Amino acid sequence: ACLAVARPRLVLLAAPRSFCAGVERAIEIVAEVLRRRGGPIYVRKQIVHNAHVVADLAGRGAVFVEELAEVPDGATVVFSAHGVSPAVREDAARRGLDVIDATCPLVTKVHAEARRFAGRGDTVLLIGHEGHEEVEGTYGEAPRETIVVADAAEAALVSVPDPSRVSYLTQTTLAVDEAQEVVDVLRGRFPALRGPGTDDICYATTNRQQAVAAIARESDVVLVVGSANSSNSMRMVELARRHGTSSHLIDDASDIRPEWLARAGVVGLSAGASAPPYLVDAVVAALDGLGGVTVEEREVTHETIRFTLPAALRGKGQ
Ligand code: F3S
Repeated sequence: ACLAVARPRLVLLAAPRSFCAGVERAIEIVAEVLRRRGGPIYVRKQIVHNAHVVADLAGRGAVFVEELAEVPDGATVVFSAHGVSPAVREDAARRGLDVIDATCPLVTKVHAEARRFAGRGDTVLLIGHEGHEEVEGTYGEAPRETIVVADAAEAALVSVPDPSRVSYLTQTTLAVDEAQEVVDVLRGRFPALRGPGTDDICYATTNRQQAVAAIARESDVVLVVGSANSSNSMRMVELARRHGTSSHLIDDASDIRPEWLARAGVVGLSAGASAPPYLVDAVVAALDGLGGVTVEEREVTHETIRFTLPAALRGKGQ
């Protein structure tokens, strides 16, 4: 007979996890605009890539649209954390829209680099995922000079007009190790390659990946709370898998499948930068309901960064 005593599962909480400063600011901007002006307030694209955040704000009067054409003339529109191309800004100005910009300051920094690199005559190799909103926005700063490079295979093939005048930039939410591989391939082909002063992959992406790597080694399975269109969340799942640990992206506790936990004594848990902390708490509670848990947190670094709100929303308001 099996005499093993069932022990509560160990949940290893990765830290940092969940909201980054850019996401907190973007959500606060929409909430503050709603508070000051009341709904409906239009938001171009998902304010951040999380289904729960979007549903919550929609319930409070935010109207999410894909394109500015869906926003009535003269209305207030919030640009999402991922940023927009100059063409979208010009369109909004032409339409007389009242724009409140929730672009993350760390994305704005990449836009400025794109303008600077293109302005000095370089071809800009933008390492990132074609079709992602952030990449569309950055690309739009210098569409004639920019080429999107998705991975090392594309880096090995890309051709530029003048190999001595090449710069690279990255999307802010890439896997640090994969992006480095792409840069290495590019540098091998274009020794004159120049890059940003400091990494474009943001602090939050970097820290969340380090924290997932730290728990992946000790976990039987790693759960990452986040939505499927969240780039940084997806990269965390892939990173855990590259460490040899099975890993799943879940929007919330209801996505957990019993078979994932069958032989998992240690469950690693984290959340992407756009996933609210309360969803992580709910996952811990759900796991606790499945036979009990003890929880340990592994903090690889402590985050204190905060971004201020746009000037129009600071102070008491009306
Ligand atoms: Fe900004 Fe990085 Fe978050 S770019 S929105 S701080 S994931």
